[in-house]
Amino acid sequence: MGTFCFCSSMTSNFNVPQVLPPSDPKLVVNGGSTLSGHVIVSGSKNSALPILAATLCCSGSSNLKNVPYLSDTRTMASILESLGAQVMSFGGDMVVNTDGIVSVEPDSSDVGKLRGGFFVIGPLLARFGEACVGLPGGCDIGARPVDLYIHGLRALGATVELRDGKVQAHVSNGKDLIGASFRLGYPSVGATETLMMAACMAEGKTVISNAAQEPEIIDLAGFLTNCGAVVEGAGTDTLYITGRRKLYGSEYSIMPDRIEVGTYMLAAAITRSCISISPVAHITLTCLADKLSGAGCKILQLSDDTLELSAVPWTIGDDLRGFSVKTNPFPGFPTDLQPLTMALLSTCKGVSVIEESVFENRMSHVTELQKFGAKIQVCGSRATVSGKGKASPLRGSQVNATDLRGGMSLVLAGLAAEGITEISGISHVDRGYESLEMKLQGLGANVIRTTTTTFPV
Ligand code: UD1
Repeated sequence: MGTFCFCSSMTSNFNVPQVLPPSDPKLVVNGGSTLSGHVIVSGSKNSALPILAATLCCSGSSNLKNVPYLSDTRTMASILESLGAQVMSFGGDMVVNTDGIVSVEPDSSDVGKLRGGFFVIGPLLARFGEACVGLPGGCDIGARPVDLYIHGLRALGATVELRDGKVQAHVSNGKDLIGASFRLGYPSVGATETLMMAACMAEGKTVISNAAQEPEIIDLAGFLTNCGAVVEGAGTDTLYITGRRKLYGSEYSIMPDRIEVGTYMLAAAITRSCISISPVAHITLTCLADKLSGAGCKILQLSDDTLELSAVPWTIGDDLRGFSVKTNPFPGFPTDLQPLTMALLSTCKGVSVIEESVFENRMSHVTELQKFGAKIQVCGSRATVSGKGKASPLRGSQVNATDLRGGMSLVLAGLAAEGITEISGISHVDRGYESLEMKLQGLGANVIRTTTTTFPV
């Protein structure tokens, strides 16, 4: 089995903690501080997970750079190791060698921890002709079925069955997957990525229509192309893939995390602050930038990959204005920023409406935001937020995170609120935010991680 170690001497942008967070940690925020300075965002979690899965397509070693140090990327490394891969990690680099794969059945308890664990079914099936993968976990934000994955794998000629809580798949003709043309019923990000990986090693041409267009799809296609795959159309709704029997490991740098960029933009807005953020690929966040500009924030491009967001009082005038959003697949408003945007809107002037159209159960943060005094009413997938404006700020509270982005919305509310906020269940947030409290402290936030109760009960 491979080793999995972290050496802080080789970190890229900031200090990676050598000691893992204690079990059941909490964040305690003394809110009301203004943020300032610069924050460096990490590599994208949602890019790193499928690219780590894609290393299963490759002979030889893949050297991935800018891999964020998160519980999700560590779990993904552990899934690869459970198959017999060797994984070595040095700061932001992860080197994966899958030449010694001895199993096509990853550890089910790890797959059950994150959605990305299921992605391995595509490369395993394409390279080894069979796979047996438990149903995936991840945030509890809806049913999150895998029917689109199964439909696509069957279109490529696999026999796929659900047995004993696992998806068992093998190549029907006993040889290779066969390229095919099919349409996804919904532009699912994970299904597009999984089927793209499988098609890269199938015999002949594959056309996937109604594909997801997220920037992470382009990043995965970039890695696969580096490894010798032929993928065209990534970033559009149709992918054209010509299969290659063999792909070779390569060096690749994971794109910056656009959801983390959006998170820090919203952190600056909710605290009425001015901060700069890099590296940023502007095209990936146009939707959020337009909404924040409309609310009164000033967004400046300081250099090719650096932006500044100002929401300080002399920039925004009276106060930020509320706005309405509907989440949608890219290039629409990202569902992952919906809970965080709701926290911001609860501090703006006026009534805003948020409609969640991607996941059917992504409102569990509402009851927690209400504990800060936020005025939010939910009806089905619509939330109406009556902004309090500066006349009536949020109040610090004792709250519990139950999913990654919902948990981060509580951290943002805590930063803006008057007084102390204690957020438990912070391990959900650790799945997606590298060095969270260190980055916030660097911006001047008064936030600490603790396992002791500080809030008066
Ligand atoms: C990915 C992201 C997640 C983000 C989401 C939407 C990763 C690891 N996670 O999740 O952060 O919130 O995209 O941008 O990249 N669906 C089906 N059947 C399927 C697959 C999906 O009905 O077989 C539905 C889901 O239930 C959901 C919708 O499609 O309602 C979108 O899901 P999908 O795009 O697949 O999201 P994920 O890949 O799980």
